[in-house]
Amino acid sequence: MADSKIYTASTTAPVNIAVIKYWGKRDTKLNLPTNSSLSVTLSQSDLRTHTSAACSSIFTENRLYLNREPQDVSGARQQACFRELRVLRAALEAADPTLPKLSTYNVHIVSENNFPTAAGLASSAAGFAALVRALADLYCLQNTPTELSRIARQGSGSACRSLFGGYVAWEQGHAADGSDSLAVQVAPASHWPGMRAAILVVSAAKKDVSSTSGMQATVATSGLFRHRAEVVVPARMEAMKAAIQKRNFEAFAELTMADSNQFHAVCLDTLPPIFYLNDVSRAAIRVVEEINRVAGKSIAAYTFDAGPNCVIYYEQENEAAILGVLKPYTSGVSGWGDRRETVHARIPEGFNAA
Ligand code: ADP
Ligand code: DP6
Ligand code: CO
Repeated sequence: MADSKIYTASTTAPVNIAVIKYWGKRDTKLNLPTNSSLSVTLSQSDLRTHTSAACSSIFTENRLYLNREPQDVSGARQQACFRELRVLRAALEAADPTLPKLSTYNVHIVSENNFPTAAGLASSAAGFAALVRALADLYCLQNTPTELSRIARQGSGSACRSLFGGYVAWEQGHAADGSDSLAVQVAPASHWPGMRAAILVVSAAKKDVSSTSGMQATVATSGLFRHRAEVVVPARMEAMKAAIQKRNFEAFAELTMADSNQFHAVCLDTLPPIFYLNDVSRAAIRVVEEINRVAGKSIAAYTFDAGPNCVIYYEQENEAAILGVLKPYTSGVSGWGDRRETVHARIPEGFNAA
């Protein structure tokens, strides 16, 4: 009798916010980057994607629902993830003919982000990491996170880093097939127990220029970008790894802020220029610069992905001082996670720092 069983698996994946930014591809099909990058994965108890995957011989097509809306699954990115994971499953089935032939079935995927989608808070990172993890679990794959990172990267570049917790490098690699463009953990979250991130939600609106099309325009038109990728980032990657190994917050903060600022400078150097930051974002930068000036050293580090929303890294011992300064500018701090690694605050529209 034909197998009409529905097989299911569910998982969650956290967002990661880069401190050395990925921006630019040398291969747009495989999402191979023009520079390595490094990120901090946030706590699972805060910004995360929840994804369930099912497969069955009775499913007549592949389907993906994101935040309850049906998505087009014919896109190259989703197809690449489905195809690569099926190949790994098919190898298991070939080795053990008693296994059900899940590699031949269509999949149904339901995914929810508990934070704004396509607003510069790394939804594509958590989203594709969760999609790959859910299908890998469904297929009972034993591959390592680094092996799965090769697949998640083809969904969205930044997603390869969300397969790990803690401090994660995406080494750009040099192979034309992308086999060495992989994520590796630099240090686990437990290496730096005092590290915290505050998420300042400036706007939950979908960005006008997606990360994918923004970086394509940058590669095509920005000269500053070339200097960044070839000269600045390689040195910064080494300096950032050293700062993390030594838990040197000042070095970590200064590199993080410089890299965020250079990434947005490169956006401005693109033709036509891309503006991800708005007045509220710039006001948040001024507040953090002021906090650091008063402290006499960098105790807080802002960073912005491709959107106006601000992430501030700091150490627990400075939490009261930093959140105390931010509080008057925000409409409340909410969403304290169990491990208190991240806090959320919403800056009211129209806010302007003096
Ligand atoms: P962000 O800054 O949020 O990462 P991007 O422009 O990089 O924005 O990517 C947003 C796109 O990522 C969405 O339009 C959608 O195609 C995809 N995406 C976001 N969340 C998910 C998810 N949970 N599952 C699958 N794809 C997702
Ligand atoms: C600014 O990974 O979203 O957040 O690979 O085209 O899906 P695609 O782009 P994406 O770009 C992220 C850019 C960034 C920096 C970073 O996360 O490193
Ligand atoms: Co993204």
